[in-house]
Amino acid sequence: MCSIIGYYGDDTAAPIIVNALKRMEYRGYDSVGIATKSENQISVKKGIGKVSEVNESVKLSTLPGHIGIGHTRWATHGKVTVVNAHPHPSNSGKIVIVHNGIIENFNELKENLQKDGFEFKSETDTEVIANLIQQNFSKSSNVKESILKTVSQLKGHYAFVAMFEDGTLAAARFHEPLIIGIGQNSYFVSSDVLGFIEKTDDAIYLDNGNIAIIASSKLKIFSFDGEQIKKPITKVAKEFAQVDKGDFAHYTIKEISEQPETILKAGEDTIEALENTADFIKHAKNVYFTGSGTSFNAALLAKYLLSKYAKIKVEPIISSELSSIPESIEPNSILIAISQSGESADVLEAVKIAKQQNAKILSIVNSSPSSLVEESSQVIRMGCGPEIGVAATKSFTSQLAIIYKIAEKLCDGCIGIDFKKVSQAIENILSDQTKIQDIAKELKVVSDIYIIGRGMHHPIAMEAALKLKELTYIHAEGIAAGELKHGPLALMDSNVFVIIINPDDSTYTDTITSANEIKSRGAKIIGISDKNSDVYDYWIQIPKIDESMYPIIEIIPIQLLAYYSAVEKETDPDYPRNLAKSVTVK
Ligand code: F6R
Repeated sequence: MCSIIGYYGDDTAAPIIVNALKRMEYRGYDSVGIATKSENQISVKKGIGKVSEVNESVKLSTLPGHIGIGHTRWATHGKVTVVNAHPHPSNSGKIVIVHNGIIENFNELKENLQKDGFEFKSETDTEVIANLIQQNFSKSSNVKESILKTVSQLKGHYAFVAMFEDGTLAAARFHEPLIIGIGQNSYFVSSDVLGFIEKTDDAIYLDNGNIAIIASSKLKIFSFDGEQIKKPITKVAKEFAQVDKGDFAHYTIKEISEQPETILKAGEDTIEALENTADFIKHAKNVYFTGSGTSFNAALLAKYLLSKYAKIKVEPIISSELSSIPESIEPNSILIAISQSGESADVLEAVKIAKQQNAKILSIVNSSPSSLVEESSQVIRMGCGPEIGVAATKSFTSQLAIIYKIAEKLCDGCIGIDFKKVSQAIENILSDQTKIQDIAKELKVVSDIYIIGRGMHHPIAMEAALKLKELTYIHAEGIAAGELKHGPLALMDSNVFVIIINPDDSTYTDTITSANEIKSRGAKIIGISDKNSDVYDYWIQIPKIDESMYPIIEIIPIQLLAYYSAVEKETDPDYPRNLAKSVTVK
């Protein structure tokens, strides 16, 4: 959503903070700002745009001092303006704050503060926290007391770091991530390990309801009721240390290219959890899968795979919809939550609702530790490494690989999966991207793309549409091939492009019939298949593979197509407009 970072140490804070923000920019990137403290004075600089652009224009990294805080924003309360960008000073200017999350009772708190004479410059809920801390600090002159009082007044989900005029950093975590990095003579307070991994791999993961105070070069952690807590220092997984683009132009293409390896690793570190999950599914009365966006599309495929191969009925539920139909979770069922970040608020809410119905929570997660991991009794890890590109790519195929493995366990090996072959097939698709690059040149001027798939290819058509929307800003829609004649055929004319996902399997002939119906209305057709057809204007060839495994390979050319079309349109494939990687608000 937003990224927050605090630095307290011997080095000059501003360049460290700017660098940390660049690494965490995928979390939110519409505006950026930092504040540092030097000689009992707080200085703030901020601007609209990406970290490097704002740094270029207002020279964020030149601020003096060894203590500071920084933020990249994904707007929730108030437009994208310099005034709304963080950090936000309190009225006295003696406390400054960066915040991630939502304060639900901010209107009420703001009115009370206004009655007490406080003035507000921004439209944000964050400025309310800054002024509340100031009000509470003016009564107690004690940082810890003022933060404890403040968190007792806040409702919502939040993580914040406040910097006081004397250089004390005070942070609080409540349902938004916050991690302390322990460096040599230095501390980092960060939304994400990427904020400090270049400097240290020693970390303390704060729990919900923890406060951290760094003063006089010492870190102390307290619970929201004021008790001091001792927390262990853990080593951050070494895969996080390797986050950089290497020779690739963007993270997105790097992550697409990693898939021959990442599908092999999916679930491998947590085989026991995978086996337990299969066992729970086998004995459960009702099994639900849930997720948002791409992760929901993986849940959709779970329905096809488990019913086709394991003869087990499962229900996929869009996480954000569950609060409208909590009754759909039968008591004592299983909910399998799928999430790359493990922090999507909608997914966590779905888990909460399912728990109220006494459901057992199992999850398929990439980021760990994460809130979803904490909520789950079994966790299967995707193990695909950090995914920085905002559009999910490698995490999707890792999710699918895990679902395949679960299905295989449930049907005692009836699918006969050979992931080495799948990996080679993906390698083969990646080995020649020129044709896809050529088609991307044509797509860049198109305003509507439809993606058609039948049976197991329908969830992939949905995912393909999501990727094209996010990366190219072209209207894209995934359609079950059989549904064409029930309405969407009316949209087909010579202005539209239709991608037909049509490998040579049992759905092939029926989908060719749909393609012919489309073609006769003048639309241009891109066929994704191992078998060519006259009906295709463009054919993207995929390798022949066992019929059951086509879904996991056929998304790859579409990820590439979306990526190269974004490059052609000169949009930023890593950071699509208006989006953020981990959506921690409802
Ligand atoms: C699509 C995309 C989003 C996420 C969704 C869920 O490319 O990235 O649709 O899939 O926000 O995120 P996680 O999986 O982190 O819960």
